[in-house]
Formats: sequence, C-alpha cells, structure tokens
Amino acid sequence: MAREYAKHCPASPMKNSLLVTAAILLIIQAASCQRVRVETEVEAYPTESVDLRCQFVDGGNTKLTQVSWIWEPTEGQRDNIAVFHPTYGESFPESPFSGRVRFIKGTLTSPSITITSLKMADAGRYTCEYATYPSGNEQGTTNLVMLAKPKNSASPVVVQASTSGKPVVVAQCEAADSKPAATIKWMGAVGGTENTTSVKGPDGTVTVRSEYLIVPTPEDNGKEVTCIISQRTQDKPQTFPMKLAVEYPPTVSIVGYDNNWYIGRTDAVLTCQATGNPAPTTVTWTVMSGPMPDTVQINANKLIVRKVDEAVNTTFVCEVKNRLGVSKHQVTTAVIEQRKITAGPSTAGIIGGTIGVVLFLLAIVSAVIILVRKRKQNAVNGDGPPKHKPPPPVKAGSSTEMLNKPVTDSVLTETQPFSNVYYETSGEPVTDLDACDDDDDNTVGGGAANGGGPAVLEDSIQYADVDDTLNDEALPPYSDADDHHVDQPPSAAVARGESFVSAAMYV
Ligand SMILES: *[C@@H]1O[C@H](CO)[C@@H](O)[C@H](O)[C@H]1NC(C)=O
Ligand SMILES: *[C@@H]1O[C@H](CO)[C@@H](O)[C@H](O)[C@H]1NC(C)=O
Repeated sequence: MAREYAKHCPASPMKNSLLVTAAILLIIQAASCQRVRVETEVEAYPTESVDLRCQFVDGGNTKLTQVSWIWEPTEGQRDNIAVFHPTYGESFPESPFSGRVRFIKGTLTSPSITITSLKMADAGRYTCEYATYPSGNEQGTTNLVMLAKPKNSASPVVVQASTSGKPVVVAQCEAADSKPAATIKWMGAVGGTENTTSVKGPDGTVTVRSEYLIVPTPEDNGKEVTCIISQRTQDKPQTFPMKLAVEYPPTVSIVGYDNNWYIGRTDAVLTCQATGNPAPTTVTWTVMSGPMPDTVQINANKLIVRKVDEAVNTTFVCEVKNRLGVSKHQVTTAVIEQRKITAGPSTAGIIGGTIGVVLFLLAIVSAVIILVRKRKQNAVNGDGPPKHKPPPPVKAGSSTEMLNKPVTDSVLTETQPFSNVYYETSGEPVTDLDACDDDDDNTVGGGAANGGGPAVLEDSIQYADVDDTLNDEALPPYSDADDHHVDQPPSAAVARGESFVSAAMYV
C-alpha cells in the first residue's frame, strides 16, 4: 500500500554543491520538511476499505492542539471529514464519508483513519492537518487512487456471408467500468480489422469496447479469433478465444453418376452432398419428367435405383434448404442398353483382370512343370527322393518360392471385387446435359462462383450477374423464391471434401 513516506526535514549534505542543485534541493526541502508522516499514494477498490495513515514525528517542544483529515475531491474544495481533539475527542462533520470513517487509534500523534465501503468517487487528496503551537499548521497529503477491475466479456457475432464485400463486425469484446482503462487486442488468422472505442463513466471508470471486422465468407465459419484484455488490476491479460459464426445458404452437388447406367444394373446410387450454415435441414429429390420411378428408393440424401430401366432415363434434381436459401443441383442419367466396357478405368481393370487370370493359370502350369522337372533332376543326381513324401503337385502352387511372383500378380485378378471397386470409385458424376452444371470433372479445381456453366435459363442469368462482380465471391446471390433457385457449383462442396453428413457439424 505505502508507496513511500514523505521525508521529514532531511539534513541535506549537498547544500554546497552547484547552485542549480542547491536551488532544487531547497525547493524539495521546503516541500518535504514535514513532521507529519503520511503515505503519498494509496490504491483501493470500490466496496473495500482503506487505511489512511498519519503520524506526527519529532514533536520536541511543539504543542499539538488538534488534528483534522481534509478531503479534496477537486482542486480548491476542502471538506473536513474527521477531527480529533485531545480534550473534546473525535468528531466527524457531515460529509460524504459520514458513517464510513473512523479513527483507528484516536490519539493526537497517530490519527490514522479507516474509510469503509469505498466508492469510485472517494478518489482524491486526503490531508492530515495538525494545528500546532507555536509553528502553526503542518500537514501531509495522501492521494487515494480508486481502481476498478474491468468486467470483461466477449462474444462472436453471427453474420451472414458477405455479398457486398464490406467488412462487418464478427466478434466483440468489452472491458466495462474499469479504472484505469483496459486495453484490448485481437489475434486471429482471418486478417480482420479492429475498431476500439472507450467511454468514460460518471464515476471516473472507463468502458472499452472493441469490434473485430472481416468480410465474412463461408470458409470463415468456425475459424478462431481471440480477444485479449489487459488492465492494471489484472495479474495477467485475460483471453477470450471465439469461433466465428458465418451463415451461408447451402451449396449442393450430386455425386455418384458414372455415365454407365445400363439396363439391368442394380443398386446405382446418387448422393446429394450439401453444406450450409445452418446445416441444411431438408433434402428433396425430384424427377424432371414426373413422378419418382418405382424402382427408385430415397434414403435421406441418397437416391438408390434398385434396378436400372428406361424409367430412370431422366434427370434427377436434388434440392437442399436451410434458413438462408435453397440450392439445387441436377444430374441427367442416360440409360444405355449395354454396359460400357470400351473406355475408362473400368475397362482397364477388366482387361487387367483377364490378363491376371491368364498369368495365374500360366504360373500354376509352369510351377507344375518345374516341380516335375526338379523331381526328375533329383532322381538323376542320385539324391534320391526326399525321405518324406514330396508335396503333391496341387499344393505346390502355394508353397514354393518359385511361384511367388506369378502368385502376387494374380492376386489382383479376382474380377468380382474389382468390379465393386469400379462402381464405387469411378463414380465422379459426369453430366452431359445442357441443363446441368458444367462437367463435374472440374469439380476439384474449379473456381466456386464460376462453376455454373450453362444451366437452366434463369440460373444462367444469375450467374452472369455474379461473374460480373467479384470472382472470389463464393456465393451467388440467392432468393427464397422457389422458382428462382441457384444451382450452386458443385466445386465448393466437393473441394471442401465434406459430405452432407459432415455438414451437420456446422451448428
Ligand atoms: C467504430 O465503432 C464506433 C462505435 O460503435 C462507430 O461509431 C464507428 O463508426 C466505428 N468505426 C468504424 C471504422 O467502423
Ligand atoms: C434415353 O433417352 C434418350 C433421349 O431422351 C434416348 O435417346 C435414349 O434412347 C433413351 N434410352 C433408353 C434406354 O431408352
């Protein structure tokens, strides 16, 4: 508490030094040559209490008649708050401290006081003033500094992905009613700007507010920013990590169409992948040509064709909604008479499989031949047949080192699992129809907003608008009118690698 005691009557050893120094020392001496000892500065907090200490030292022949505490809230104003007289005792004149001030000991040489239930407004200068004889009044002054801990808070601000390119407040942080004022800093990898303002309260405290602004994009959703509040009364800065909340309408794409829906194929699957914040709640599958064919089963975001026939020679549309909008994507499934085997990785696989089978057979045949030869050779060399029974030729194929190479090759040749792999992995959607987004071959690298190739007419118009503006705007404008939907380019969803299910993590 005590910063230092005011010096009393120092005997300066330096009076004979330089004139300037002497002059300064004289001034200090005049100011500090006091026999009234007080602390120069004391800090305290509201609602707590504080001791203001005062002592008269080196009395000598000086007669002390009375001591008073005088409060100076502002320059020039002097309020007597406590008086002690050796004969008449303690007195507390009417003041803002009535009932909150008392003498600790109540002696003339040690008239320290305690003030309780402190308020911010109690800050100011407190003078311990002695009436003495014969030298007159002597005094010492303590500065009471009222401190206030800040009430700290921080919160992200839910925003919608920007379509205007203007920065908006995405997080805010506040250090309220503190003294002295707090400082607020931000940390974050989203490259925002800060706007910090401070407002003085009537009691001398300060409220500091800071806002963090970015141009929000869907990608910023869930990213972290941290607000750091520092203030004199805190041991260490207080940090508030926050996750940004950026809402955006859904983006949707249908994956799984492999351009090979031949008549009779079973369990062909289309998957509608969507992201959005809030997470899309409804996924609706429709058929352009009319009612959903009987052979089709819908399971949430999956459309399963139990058996491919002419009825699914059509265009399937997946529509996804969240609070902010609707997004559609469509894929035209061209049913073909015959399974395609002329191109693509599938054909390579089948050919490879066939070769593998041939190699496997060759391997077995050669193994048998080699074994037979070896046995003959052994017989010629006189080694004689082994004591134990030689392995029968049938087993030889899996037990001798000579066969390892052909065997490993042939592992790949089982055609059944291979065809499964083919169905699952070569399922990048390829849509031929004009009415669809551009080739999904572009999905990985394609720019988001540019992904919309020639689409349904109304969509083309919207895309034209978007393309005229910023390229990096991930989201085209959307409308909640159902007939005015936006076909989101599939690239956004696919590039993030998020399935419909994982989109639900955005809350
Ligand atoms: C900063 O915040 C204050 C108070 O909220 C506001 O009046 C001011 O316009 C803001 N300045 C900027 C640059 O955003
Ligand atoms: C599918 O429709 C296209 C045109 O809409 C037609 O050319 C094609 O023959 C149809 N396929 C089958 C298997 O009916």
